[in-house]
Amino acid sequence: MTKPRIVVATRLPIAVTERIERDFDAIIPAHDLDGAAALRAVIEQQAEGLLVSGKTALNASVIGQFPKHLKVVATCSVGFDHIDVKTAQTNGLIVTNTPDVLTNCTADMAFLLILAASRRASEYERTMRQGWRQAFGMGELLGRSVSGKTLGILGMGRIGQAVARRARGFGMSVLYSNRRRLAPELEQGAEYCQDFRTMLPRCDILSLHAPSSPETRAIINADTLALLPHGAVLVNTARGPLVDEEALIAALRSGQLFAAGLDVFCNEPNFDLRFAELPNVFLCPHMGSATEETRNAMGFRALDNIAAVCAGKPPIDPLWR
Ligand code: 8YV
Repeated sequence: MTKPRIVVATRLPIAVTERIERDFDAIIPAHDLDGAAALRAVIEQQAEGLLVSGKTALNASVIGQFPKHLKVVATCSVGFDHIDVKTAQTNGLIVTNTPDVLTNCTADMAFLLILAASRRASEYERTMRQGWRQAFGMGELLGRSVSGKTLGILGMGRIGQAVARRARGFGMSVLYSNRRRLAPELEQGAEYCQDFRTMLPRCDILSLHAPSSPETRAIINADTLALLPHGAVLVNTARGPLVDEEALIAALRSGQLFAAGLDVFCNEPNFDLRFAELPNVFLCPHMGSATEETRNAMGFRALDNIAAVCAGKPPIDPLWR
């Protein structure tokens, strides 16, 4: 049986690469391909499938030029804001993502950021690396307790729900804002707030889990940050463009926010270096799904989707049906 011919546009974990070498006809890339390079490779290799990650932007022009032999684009991510889905749909191209397999991992990262930002982990770490030699007074370098506080969640999809579950273990009250109210069995005991703005004054900590879209662009801005209680904590493991970074930096400098934990930025990897100068920010380089188990599972899921489509079967995780 001939193996499906695919283009791999992103560097992958070893276990995933080994499966590609075994089950597919593909060239393993030495570096990530951008949209134009992925298009060239698809044409040159007459590929049926294209595997990308969030780092390969597929805009309308690139998708419009994909040849007919390309049946499926599988992104190794749950988010698909890097893909012009409308054009893909119009052109009859199947697009799949990797939901479920990264839910817990990303929720763990949200909690890492909640704890690290609230408990000043970045400053503690720096103190130790600089060779801590002077004991702190009882009132010095104090963080904010997480246990028992009120957590607001924007976007109560799979990851938002997994964060709410974890918050219960910390004895937190959980509020959520979502396009629509969830069925009670999915709410994880959280209280639905129909109006995002009226939820904000009640949040000690706000965690973002909404997709990047025109509706959520800069939803965290000077206005909404001012609605949070003075000294709140903001955490973002979703997407950078949800936040107006100028307003966030101003709120961190003024103390309106006690701290922030950020895994995502408007411009990646060239994030705004002013964040690195702020003591009250805990920073990660977009690592929400970055465990060996999860990245392997994402890669395998993307390959399962490609294999299904190439075998004439329906994809497992189509973005639309
Ligand atoms: C990935 C992500 O790290 O799933 C997503 O939407 O943002 C992350 O899991 C990313 O796709 C890798 O570039």
